[in-house]
Amino acid sequence: MSAPKPMLFTPLKIRDVTMRNRIVISPMAMYCAENGYLNDFHSHHYAKFAMGGAGVVFVEQASVIREGRITNGCLGIWSDAHAQAMRSMVAFIKSQGSTPAIQIAHGGRKSSTQRAWEGNGPLTQKNFDNGDEAWTPVGPSSTPLAEGWLKPRALEVEEIHALTVAFRDAAKRAVEVDFEIIEIHMAHGYLLQSFLSPLANKRGDEYGGSLENRMRFPLAVARAVRDAIPQGTPLFVRISAVDWIEGGWEIEDSVELSRHFKEIGVDVIDCSSGGNLVTGATNSNLKREPGYQAEFARRIKAEVGIRTEAVGLIRTPELAEALLQKNSADLIAIGRQALFNPFWPHQAAEQLGANEAFENWPRPYAWWLSKWKTGLLANGESLNNWRE
Ligand SMILES: Cc1cc2nc3c(=O)[nH]c(=O)nc-3n(C[C@H](O)[C@H](O)[C@H](O)COP(=O)(O)O)c2cc1C
Repeated sequence: MSAPKPMLFTPLKIRDVTMRNRIVISPMAMYCAENGYLNDFHSHHYAKFAMGGAGVVFVEQASVIREGRITNGCLGIWSDAHAQAMRSMVAFIKSQGSTPAIQIAHGGRKSSTQRAWEGNGPLTQKNFDNGDEAWTPVGPSSTPLAEGWLKPRALEVEEIHALTVAFRDAAKRAVEVDFEIIEIHMAHGYLLQSFLSPLANKRGDEYGGSLENRMRFPLAVARAVRDAIPQGTPLFVRISAVDWIEGGWEIEDSVELSRHFKEIGVDVIDCSSGGNLVTGATNSNLKREPGYQAEFARRIKAEVGIRTEAVGLIRTPELAEALLQKNSADLIAIGRQALFNPFWPHQAAEQLGANEAFENWPRPYAWWLSKWKTGLLANGESLNNWRE
Protein backbone atom coordinates (compact mmCIF):
# COMPACT_ATOMS: atom_id res chain seq x y z
CA MET A 1 0.00 0.00 0.00
CA SER A 2 1.40 3.40 -0.89
CA ALA A 3 1.78 6.05 1.83
CA PRO A 4 -1.02 8.63 2.04
CA LYS A 5 -0.35 11.85 0.14
CA PRO A 6 1.09 14.49 2.47
CA MET A 7 -1.48 17.16 3.33
CA LEU A 8 1.03 19.81 2.31
CA PHE A 9 0.54 18.62 -1.27
CA THR A 10 -3.22 18.30 -1.35
CA PRO A 11 -5.02 21.04 -3.28
CA LEU A 12 -7.30 23.48 -1.51
CA LYS A 13 -10.33 25.06 -3.13
CA ILE A 14 -11.68 28.31 -1.73
CA ARG A 15 -14.57 29.92 -3.60
CA ASP A 16 -13.65 29.56 -7.31
CA VAL A 17 -9.91 29.20 -6.80
CA THR A 18 -8.03 25.92 -6.43
CA MET A 19 -4.54 26.14 -5.00
CA ARG A 20 -2.36 23.22 -6.13
CA ASN A 21 -0.87 22.74 -2.65
CA ARG A 22 -0.85 24.38 0.78
CA ILE A 23 2.40 26.30 0.43
CA VAL A 24 2.11 30.08 0.28
CA ILE A 25 4.98 32.43 -0.44
CA SER A 26 4.51 35.05 2.27
CA PRO A 27 4.31 38.67 1.12
CA MET A 28 7.80 40.17 1.29
CA ALA A 29 8.51 43.78 0.41
CA MET A 30 11.55 44.14 -1.82
CA TYR A 31 11.81 47.94 -1.43
CA CYS A 32 13.09 48.33 -4.96
CA ALA A 33 10.16 49.91 -6.81
CA GLU A 34 10.34 53.41 -8.26
CA ASN A 35 7.26 55.57 -7.86
CA GLY A 36 5.47 52.40 -6.83
CA TYR A 37 5.93 50.63 -10.17
CA LEU A 38 6.78 46.97 -10.53
CA ASN A 39 10.01 46.39 -12.47
CA ASP A 40 12.03 43.53 -13.95
CA PHE A 41 13.55 42.64 -10.61
CA HIS A 42 10.08 41.97 -9.19
CA SER A 43 8.89 39.97 -12.19
CA HIS A 44 11.89 37.64 -12.11
CA HIS A 45 11.79 37.41 -8.34
CA TYR A 46 8.15 36.29 -8.29
CA ALA A 47 8.57 34.05 -11.34
CA LYS A 48 11.11 31.95 -9.40
CA PHE A 49 8.57 31.14 -6.70
CA ALA A 50 6.00 30.00 -9.23
CA MET A 51 8.60 27.82 -10.96
CA GLY A 52 9.61 26.61 -7.51
CA GLY A 53 6.24 24.97 -6.99
CA ALA A 54 4.42 27.18 -4.47
CA GLY A 55 0.64 26.84 -4.31
CA VAL A 56 0.19 30.58 -3.87
CA VAL A 57 2.65 33.36 -4.69
CA PHE A 58 1.94 36.53 -2.78
CA VAL A 59 3.15 39.78 -4.23
CA GLU A 60 4.42 42.07 -1.49
CA GLN A 61 2.41 44.79 0.21
CA ALA A 62 1.29 47.26 -2.45
CA SER A 63 0.17 50.65 -1.25
CA VAL A 64 -3.38 51.82 -1.91
CA ILE A 65 -2.29 55.47 -2.03
CA ARG A 66 1.06 57.08 -2.75
CA GLU A 67 1.50 58.37 0.82
CA GLY A 68 0.70 54.92 2.18
CA ARG A 69 4.09 53.60 1.11
CA ILE A 70 6.35 52.62 3.97
CA THR A 71 9.42 53.59 1.96
CA ASN A 72 10.21 55.21 -1.36
CA GLY A 73 10.91 51.70 -2.66
CA CYS A 74 7.50 50.25 -1.88
CA LEU A 75 5.21 48.88 -4.54
CA GLY A 76 1.95 50.71 -5.26
CA ILE A 77 -1.44 49.90 -6.69
CA TRP A 78 -2.99 53.35 -6.42
CA SER A 79 -3.53 53.76 -10.17
CA ASP A 80 -4.61 51.58 -13.08
CA ALA A 81 -1.16 52.03 -14.61
CA HIS A 82 0.44 50.52 -11.49
CA ALA A 83 -1.82 47.50 -11.72
CA GLN A 84 -1.28 47.09 -15.48
CA ALA A 85 2.48 46.97 -14.89
CA MET A 86 1.85 43.71 -12.99
CA ARG A 87 -0.31 42.01 -15.59
CA SER A 88 2.27 39.94 -17.47
CA MET A 89 3.96 38.83 -14.23
CA VAL A 90 0.58 37.69 -12.91
CA ALA A 91 0.00 35.71 -16.09
CA PHE A 92 3.40 34.06 -15.80
CA ILE A 93 2.81 33.02 -12.19
CA LYS A 94 -0.42 31.40 -13.28
CA SER A 95 1.16 29.71 -16.30
CA GLN A 96 3.49 27.85 -13.91
CA GLY A 97 0.59 26.47 -11.88
CA SER A 98 0.71 28.86 -8.90
CA THR A 99 -2.14 31.07 -7.77
CA PRO A 100 -1.21 34.76 -8.10
CA ALA A 101 -2.09 36.78 -4.99
CA ILE A 102 -1.41 40.30 -3.76
CA GLN A 103 -1.41 42.06 -0.42
CA ILE A 104 -2.85 45.59 -0.36
CA ALA A 105 -1.62 47.92 2.34
CA HIS A 106 -1.14 51.31 3.93
CA GLY A 107 1.90 51.93 6.12
CA GLY A 108 0.21 54.33 8.55
CA ARG A 109 2.53 55.80 11.13
CA LYS A 110 5.40 53.62 9.87
CA SER A 111 5.33 55.40 6.48
CA SER A 112 7.94 57.72 5.01
CA THR A 113 10.88 55.81 6.43
CA GLN A 114 14.09 54.40 5.03
CA ARG A 115 14.23 51.05 3.27
CA ALA A 116 14.90 48.16 5.68
CA TRP A 117 18.59 47.93 4.85
CA GLU A 118 19.04 51.72 5.18
CA GLY A 119 17.99 51.56 8.83
CA ASN A 120 14.17 51.89 8.88
CA GLY A 121 14.54 55.35 10.46
CA PRO A 122 13.41 58.79 9.25
CA LEU A 123 14.87 59.80 5.89
CA THR A 124 18.22 61.62 5.98
CA GLN A 125 19.96 64.05 3.63
CA LYS A 126 21.70 61.07 2.04
CA ASN A 127 18.31 59.58 1.13
CA PHE A 128 17.14 62.93 -0.31
CA ASP A 129 20.36 63.19 -2.33
CA ASN A 130 19.44 59.79 -3.80
CA GLY A 131 16.07 61.13 -4.91
CA ASP A 132 13.84 60.02 -2.04
CA GLU A 133 11.00 62.22 -0.85
CA ALA A 134 9.47 62.53 2.62
CA TRP A 135 5.87 63.07 3.68
CA THR A 136 3.95 63.23 6.94
CA PRO A 137 2.73 59.81 8.01
CA VAL A 138 -0.81 59.39 9.29
CA GLY A 139 -2.32 57.20 11.98
CA PRO A 140 -5.25 56.92 14.35
CA SER A 141 -3.54 59.39 16.68
CA SER A 142 -0.48 61.59 16.71
CA THR A 143 1.58 59.20 18.85
CA PRO A 144 4.79 58.07 17.14
CA LEU A 145 5.57 54.36 17.04
CA ALA A 146 8.46 54.84 19.47
CA GLU A 147 11.23 57.28 20.26
CA GLY A 148 13.01 58.42 17.11
CA TRP A 149 10.07 57.67 14.80
CA LEU A 150 8.15 60.34 12.89
CA LYS A 151 5.17 61.98 14.57
CA PRO A 152 2.06 61.03 12.59
CA ARG A 153 -0.95 63.23 11.90
CA ALA A 154 -4.24 61.85 13.24
CA LEU A 155 -6.66 61.04 10.40
CA GLU A 156 -9.91 62.99 10.05
CA VAL A 157 -13.08 60.92 9.75
CA GLU A 158 -13.51 61.94 6.07
CA GLU A 159 -9.99 60.66 5.39
CA ILE A 160 -10.88 57.32 6.98
CA HIS A 161 -13.81 57.08 4.59
CA ALA A 162 -11.60 58.02 1.63
CA LEU A 163 -9.03 55.38 2.58
CA THR A 164 -11.74 52.73 2.77
CA VAL A 165 -12.54 53.61 -0.83
CA ALA A 166 -8.84 53.52 -1.71
CA PHE A 167 -8.55 49.93 -0.38
CA ARG A 168 -11.67 48.97 -2.31
CA ASP A 169 -10.37 50.50 -5.55
CA ALA A 170 -6.96 48.87 -5.13
CA ALA A 171 -8.62 45.46 -4.75
CA LYS A 172 -10.68 46.05 -7.88
CA ARG A 173 -7.55 46.98 -9.83
CA ALA A 174 -5.81 43.81 -8.64
CA VAL A 175 -8.72 41.65 -9.80
CA GLU A 176 -8.74 43.49 -13.09
CA VAL A 177 -5.18 42.30 -13.85
CA ASP A 178 -6.05 38.72 -12.83
CA PHE A 179 -4.79 38.39 -9.28
CA GLU A 180 -6.85 35.53 -7.86
CA ILE A 181 -6.49 36.19 -4.12
CA ILE A 182 -6.58 39.55 -2.35
CA GLU A 183 -5.12 39.99 1.11
CA ILE A 184 -5.64 43.08 3.24
CA HIS A 185 -2.64 43.95 5.40
CA MET A 186 -3.91 44.48 8.93
CA ALA A 187 -0.72 43.48 10.73
CA HIS A 188 2.68 44.67 11.88
CA GLY A 189 1.78 48.13 13.20
CA TYR A 190 0.75 49.51 9.82
CA LEU A 191 -2.36 51.66 9.36
CA LEU A 192 -5.18 49.18 9.90
CA GLN A 193 -3.46 47.34 12.74
CA SER A 194 -2.69 50.64 14.44
CA PHE A 195 -6.44 51.34 14.60
CA LEU A 196 -6.95 47.97 16.29
CA SER A 197 -4.20 48.23 18.88
CA PRO A 198 -4.87 50.27 22.01
CA LEU A 199 -1.13 51.02 22.07
CA ALA A 200 -1.49 53.12 18.91
CA ASN A 201 -5.13 54.15 18.86
CA LYS A 202 -5.85 56.92 21.37
CA ARG A 203 -8.87 58.39 19.57
CA GLY A 204 -11.90 59.64 21.44
CA ASP A 205 -14.39 59.33 18.56
CA GLU A 206 -16.26 56.34 17.13
CA TYR A 207 -12.97 54.94 15.76
CA GLY A 208 -11.21 54.68 19.14
CA GLY A 209 -11.70 53.54 22.70
CA SER A 210 -13.72 50.32 22.91
CA LEU A 211 -12.78 47.22 20.92
CA GLU A 212 -15.90 47.73 18.83
CA ASN A 213 -14.77 51.24 17.91
CA ARG A 214 -11.18 50.22 17.22
CA MET A 215 -12.40 47.49 14.86
CA ARG A 216 -14.70 49.87 12.97
CA PHE A 217 -12.25 51.05 10.27
CA PRO A 218 -10.59 47.65 9.59
CA LEU A 219 -14.01 45.98 9.36
CA ALA A 220 -15.28 48.71 7.03
CA VAL A 221 -12.29 48.07 4.77
CA ALA A 222 -12.87 44.30 4.77
CA ARG A 223 -16.55 44.84 3.95
CA ALA A 224 -15.82 47.33 1.15
CA VAL A 225 -13.25 45.02 -0.43
CA ARG A 226 -15.46 41.92 -0.10
CA ASP A 227 -18.35 43.76 -1.77
CA ALA A 228 -16.16 45.03 -4.60
CA ILE A 229 -14.39 41.83 -5.66
CA PRO A 230 -16.12 38.93 -7.42
CA GLN A 231 -17.91 36.35 -5.28
CA GLY A 232 -15.48 33.73 -6.55
CA THR A 233 -12.35 35.58 -5.39
CA PRO A 234 -10.96 34.55 -2.00
CA LEU A 235 -10.25 37.32 0.50
CA PHE A 236 -7.48 36.91 3.08
CA VAL A 237 -6.67 39.23 5.96
CA ARG A 238 -3.26 39.27 7.62
CA ILE A 239 -3.45 40.17 11.28
CA SER A 240 -1.02 40.60 14.12
CA ALA A 241 -2.65 38.08 16.43
CA VAL A 242 -0.96 39.74 19.41
CA ASP A 243 1.12 42.86 20.02
CA TRP A 244 3.40 40.91 22.43
CA ILE A 245 3.24 43.99 24.67
CA GLU A 246 1.34 44.27 27.93
CA GLY A 247 -1.75 46.43 27.52
CA GLY A 248 -1.76 45.80 23.79
CA TRP A 249 -3.79 43.69 21.37
CA GLU A 250 -4.36 40.14 22.66
CA ILE A 251 -5.31 36.80 21.10
CA GLU A 252 -8.85 37.08 22.53
CA ASP A 253 -9.24 40.32 20.53
CA SER A 254 -8.08 38.48 17.41
CA VAL A 255 -10.64 35.75 17.97
CA GLU A 256 -13.38 38.37 18.26
CA LEU A 257 -12.13 40.25 15.19
CA SER A 258 -11.99 37.02 13.19
CA ARG A 259 -15.63 36.27 14.06
CA HIS A 260 -16.58 39.56 12.40
CA PHE A 261 -14.36 38.80 9.42
CA LYS A 262 -16.09 35.46 9.01
CA GLU A 263 -19.48 37.17 8.92
CA ILE A 264 -18.24 39.62 6.30
CA GLY A 265 -17.01 36.79 4.08
CA VAL A 266 -13.27 36.83 4.70
CA ASP A 267 -11.96 33.38 3.80
CA VAL A 268 -8.58 33.08 5.51
CA ILE A 269 -6.98 34.70 8.55
CA ASP A 270 -3.24 34.89 7.96
CA CYS A 271 -1.81 34.87 11.49
CA SER A 272 1.30 36.93 12.03
CA SER A 273 2.10 39.02 15.13
CA GLY A 274 3.83 42.12 16.49
CA GLY A 275 4.85 45.35 14.82
CA ASN A 276 3.96 47.90 17.45
CA LEU A 277 6.64 49.22 19.72
CA VAL A 278 6.42 51.15 22.93
CA THR A 279 9.36 53.26 23.99
CA GLY A 280 11.13 51.53 26.82
CA ALA A 281 9.22 48.26 26.42
CA THR A 282 11.04 45.09 25.62
CA ASN A 283 9.65 42.13 23.77
CA SER A 284 11.19 39.77 26.30
CA ASN A 285 8.27 37.37 25.96
CA LEU A 286 8.78 37.11 22.20
CA LYS A 287 9.60 33.47 21.57
CA ARG A 288 11.01 32.77 18.18
CA GLU A 289 11.24 29.03 17.94
CA PRO A 290 10.14 27.28 14.73
CA GLY A 291 6.46 27.87 14.05
CA TYR A 292 6.22 30.32 16.96
CA GLN A 293 3.05 31.97 15.64
CA ALA A 294 1.20 28.80 14.61
CA GLU A 295 -0.62 28.54 17.93
CA PHE A 296 -2.52 31.73 16.99
CA ALA A 297 -3.65 30.15 13.73
CA ARG A 298 -4.71 26.99 15.58
CA ARG A 299 -6.72 28.89 18.14
CA ILE A 300 -8.54 31.15 15.69
CA LYS A 301 -9.33 28.19 13.44
CA ALA A 302 -10.67 26.15 16.36
CA GLU A 303 -12.66 28.93 18.06
CA VAL A 304 -14.01 30.76 15.03
CA GLY A 305 -14.30 27.97 12.49
CA ILE A 306 -12.52 29.91 9.78
CA ARG A 307 -9.57 28.86 7.64
CA THR A 308 -6.17 30.09 8.80
CA GLU A 309 -2.65 30.45 7.48
CA ALA A 310 0.36 29.85 9.73
CA VAL A 311 3.57 31.80 9.20
CA GLY A 312 6.86 32.41 10.95
CA LEU A 313 10.02 30.31 11.03
CA ILE A 314 8.48 27.34 9.29
CA ARG A 315 11.50 25.95 7.50
CA THR A 316 11.14 22.19 7.26
CA PRO A 317 8.59 20.17 5.28
CA GLU A 318 8.08 18.03 8.39
CA LEU A 319 6.98 21.01 10.51
CA ALA A 320 4.75 22.34 7.71
CA GLU A 321 3.11 18.93 7.37
CA ALA A 322 2.72 18.48 11.14
CA LEU A 323 0.94 21.84 11.49
CA LEU A 324 -1.58 20.82 8.85
CA GLN A 325 -2.02 17.34 10.36
CA LYS A 326 -2.68 18.88 13.79
CA ASN A 327 -5.31 21.13 12.27
CA SER A 328 -3.38 24.23 13.29
CA ALA A 329 -3.84 25.83 9.87
CA ASP A 330 -5.06 25.25 6.30
CA LEU A 331 -2.16 26.99 4.61
CA ILE A 332 1.53 27.31 5.44
CA ALA A 333 3.40 30.47 4.50
CA ILE A 334 7.14 30.57 4.07
CA GLY A 335 9.10 33.79 3.82
CA ARG A 336 12.85 33.89 4.26
CA GLN A 337 13.23 30.18 3.58
CA ALA A 338 11.80 30.89 0.12
CA LEU A 339 14.28 33.73 -0.44
CA PHE A 340 17.01 31.28 0.53
CA ASN A 341 15.61 28.52 -1.64
CA PRO A 342 12.82 29.41 -4.10
CA PHE A 343 12.56 25.72 -5.04
CA TRP A 344 11.67 24.75 -1.48
CA PRO A 345 8.16 23.55 -2.40
CA HIS A 346 9.44 21.09 -5.03
CA GLN A 347 12.20 19.92 -2.72
CA ALA A 348 9.73 19.53 0.14
CA ALA A 349 7.62 17.35 -2.14
CA GLU A 350 10.65 15.18 -2.89
CA GLN A 351 11.44 14.91 0.78
CA LEU A 352 7.88 13.94 1.73
CA GLY A 353 7.66 11.49 -1.14
CA ALA A 354 5.02 13.45 -3.04
CA ASN A 355 6.93 14.17 -6.25
CA GLU A 356 9.59 11.51 -6.77
CA ALA A 357 10.02 11.83 -10.52
CA PHE A 358 10.11 15.63 -10.65
CA GLU A 359 6.72 15.53 -12.36
CA ASN A 360 5.64 18.87 -10.90
CA TRP A 361 8.85 20.70 -11.73
CA PRO A 362 8.98 22.96 -14.78
CA ARG A 363 8.82 20.63 -17.77
CA PRO A 364 12.16 21.68 -19.23
CA TYR A 365 13.88 20.70 -15.96
CA ALA A 366 12.06 17.49 -15.08
CA TRP A 367 13.46 15.03 -17.63
CA TRP A 368 17.05 16.11 -16.97
CA LEU A 369 16.72 16.07 -13.22
CA SER A 370 15.14 12.66 -13.25
CA LYS A 371 18.06 11.16 -15.26
CA TRP A 372 20.51 13.06 -13.09
CA LYS A 373 18.97 11.64 -9.93
CA THR A 374 19.18 8.09 -11.26
CA GLY A 375 22.87 8.62 -12.00
CA LEU A 376 23.56 10.13 -8.61
CA LEU A 377 21.83 7.32 -6.78
CA ALA A 378 23.72 4.75 -8.86
CA ASN A 379 26.93 6.44 -7.69
CA GLY A 380 25.84 6.06 -4.08
CA GLU A 381 25.17 9.78 -3.79
CA SER A 382 21.98 11.47 -2.67
CA LEU A 383 20.43 14.72 -3.80
CA ASN A 384 21.19 16.32 -0.48
CA ASN A 385 24.83 15.46 0.12
CA TRP A 386 26.36 18.07 -2.17
CA ARG A 387 28.18 19.72 0.72
CA GLU A 388 30.26 16.64 1.50
C1 LIG B 1 12.23 40.94 3.15
C2 LIG B 1 10.93 40.81 3.90
C3 LIG B 1 9.86 41.63 3.56
C4 LIG B 1 8.63 41.48 4.19
N1 LIG B 1 7.55 42.21 3.74
C5 LIG B 1 6.31 41.92 4.19
C6 LIG B 1 5.15 42.44 3.57
O1 LIG B 1 5.23 43.10 2.53
N2 LIG B 1 3.95 42.16 4.12
C7 LIG B 1 3.83 41.34 5.22
O2 LIG B 1 2.71 41.12 5.70
N3 LIG B 1 4.91 40.79 5.79
C8 LIG B 1 6.13 41.02 5.29
N4 LIG B 1 7.21 40.36 5.81
C9 LIG B 1 7.00 39.29 6.81
C10 LIG B 1 6.91 37.93 6.11
O3 LIG B 1 5.79 37.88 5.25
C11 LIG B 1 6.81 36.78 7.13
O4 LIG B 1 5.63 36.94 7.87
C12 LIG B 1 8.00 36.76 8.07
O5 LIG B 1 9.21 36.88 7.36
C13 LIG B 1 8.03 35.47 8.91
O6 LIG B 1 8.06 34.33 8.10
P1 LIG B 1 9.46 33.54 7.79
O7 LIG B 1 10.06 33.15 9.11
O8 LIG B 1 9.03 32.35 6.98
O9 LIG B 1 10.36 34.47 7.03
C14 LIG B 1 8.47 40.52 5.22
C15 LIG B 1 9.57 39.74 5.60
C16 LIG B 1 10.77 39.86 4.94
C17 LIG B 1 11.92 38.94 5.33
